[in-house]
Amino acid sequence: MCGIIAIISQNQPVSERIISGLKRLEYRGYDSSGVATITPEGTIDVRRAVGKIASLQALVEQLPLTGKIGIGHTRWATHGAAVEDNAHPHSNGRVAVVHNGIIENFAELRRELEQKDHVFSSQTDTESIVHLITDFLDQGMRPEQAMKETLAHLEGAFGIAVLFQGEELIIGARKGSPLAVGLGDTEMYLGSDALGLAPFTDQMVYLEEGDWVILRDNSYQIFNAQSEPVERAKTLIAANNMSLAKDGFAHFMLKEIFEQPSVVGQTLSNCLDPHSRLPDFSGLNLPRIEPFQRLNIIACGTSYLAAMVAKYWLESLTDIHVNVDIASEFRYRRTPFVNGGVAVFISQSGETADTLAAMTHAKENGQFCIAVVNVATSSMARLADAVILTDAGAEIGVASTKAFTCQLVVLAAFTVFIALQHGSVTLEQGQQFVEELTHIPSQIQDQLHHKEELQQLAQAYLVHARDILYIGRGAHYPIALEGALKLKELSYIHAEGFPAGELKHGPIALIDQDVPVIVLAPFGPLFDKTISNAFEVAARGAKVILVTDKQGKSAVERMGQQQFTLFEVSTAGTFSSPLLCAIPMQLMAYYTALLKGTDVDQPRNLAKSVTVE
Ligand code: AGP
Repeated sequence: MCGIIAIISQNQPVSERIISGLKRLEYRGYDSSGVATITPEGTIDVRRAVGKIASLQALVEQLPLTGKIGIGHTRWATHGAAVEDNAHPHSNGRVAVVHNGIIENFAELRRELEQKDHVFSSQTDTESIVHLITDFLDQGMRPEQAMKETLAHLEGAFGIAVLFQGEELIIGARKGSPLAVGLGDTEMYLGSDALGLAPFTDQMVYLEEGDWVILRDNSYQIFNAQSEPVERAKTLIAANNMSLAKDGFAHFMLKEIFEQPSVVGQTLSNCLDPHSRLPDFSGLNLPRIEPFQRLNIIACGTSYLAAMVAKYWLESLTDIHVNVDIASEFRYRRTPFVNGGVAVFISQSGETADTLAAMTHAKENGQFCIAVVNVATSSMARLADAVILTDAGAEIGVASTKAFTCQLVVLAAFTVFIALQHGSVTLEQGQQFVEELTHIPSQIQDQLHHKEELQQLAQAYLVHARDILYIGRGAHYPIALEGALKLKELSYIHAEGFPAGELKHGPIALIDQDVPVIVLAPFGPLFDKTISNAFEVAARGAKVILVTDKQGKSAVERMGQQQFTLFEVSTAGTFSSPLLCAIPMQLMAYYTALLKGTDVDQPRNLAKSVTVE
């Protein structure tokens, strides 16, 4: 998703540092970029380029940008193709604007402004902001007033930064898309996330919904949605969360896959009472969630699949009725809310627009909102009534891996915590479950030792496939969906996940010798039925990759079954089994993408944090 970096300095040129900040936001996904500065003569100068930031860098080297005040942007196209005319900053010489989000009433604004002879040069919604501000300047307003009037006319979501010809200030505003002020000694910063500003400062002030800010080179003034001056808290950003080094790995995604043993272990230990060694969330003062009470868990993408796994766990151990929902559906469907009900929102970034909007919707309906997020300073963390942090560290690869397994371990610990509260599991059972969870980091490490085997499976079965199906039952069904999501978003090969029992109701028509099927079937109550499904697809020519454990492998071998290609996962339990099956899903997708030659860390069309609806 788009990124913003802005700097206003007392005495240092800014364009190169803005570009270095934009490079730290590349992981968010983009297709063009640009920088604008206020030159020493007070004019606005702009450079924009399509493609990677290296193109912008080359352009600025060829045509340097001077000036101590500037704004920069990486654009993920929403309105208008990824061409230079649509790249940000947009400027008419009087005003320059960079914008994250979507201005929903841009067409109406554009019509009104064109009737006032404003000439547009792009297809973007953002350019309406440029001309609207200019229109208010033409009415004799100062920049601050023109900005205030403009904000009152904008509908939709935005994080914006604005330069004004001849003015030594930057004005930023936030509504539905994050924006933070970075504090320096002789300069000030504005950024869409802390990662981009990390090289300049570790002191941040996060704007709240509706806030706007005037930055000068040694001061800043924040105003709330009613344009009243307000103070916002200063936050110190932990440097270790800001590492952008690959530490010798070929890709951030591979590094993050291999970080899982440590970050899953760290995340789990954060959930456990140091003395009892049992899950403890009492510090969150959560409302009690009774058996048969409804609990909504809402998320998007991979985070939604973590919610699906949690449904199986919570319902089997606590009798809570769990409703899992895709955020973009939840917020528009008429959901019957129980007053004082509880809703959980899962998000790696804590900025996903659909999930954030769903949380707002739930809060407006009296729900106690718990955020399970990986970014402590995110919008969701700040909006929620309670926050459970995953401790995965910065996840740079667009495809979520370590954040997912950290979400699962948090949800597992949460399940045990509630089950102990209900008395639906004994203290001894609770201790056994925790024992199971504490083995997960070393079991993940064991899986990672088999990466070459997974690389061979990718080469032999996946990289040339037309379609790939993933099937599983119970809590392994969401992992089948996750395997399909990873594969398709990384390699661009079509892949789909199904409940294993569902194949015969239609999808089995897809099966032929060109369609490999990944079957998730560690030994357990549903093993036999899932193996039957594996036989059904093998009988129709499918190449079956069976992901099972030692017991499952022995059972299949006792059947004299040679058709299946086996990948063995560690023998595991209720919580650890689906989590461990995620590791081969991640690595098979990674190696397939590598073989396909796609951009593993920044797959086409994707963004790390989808901050637009
Ligand atoms: C996961 O691999 C995808 N990149 C995507 O589905 C992601 O999980 C989704 O956009 C939700 O993001 P969040 O966890 O930051 O809310």
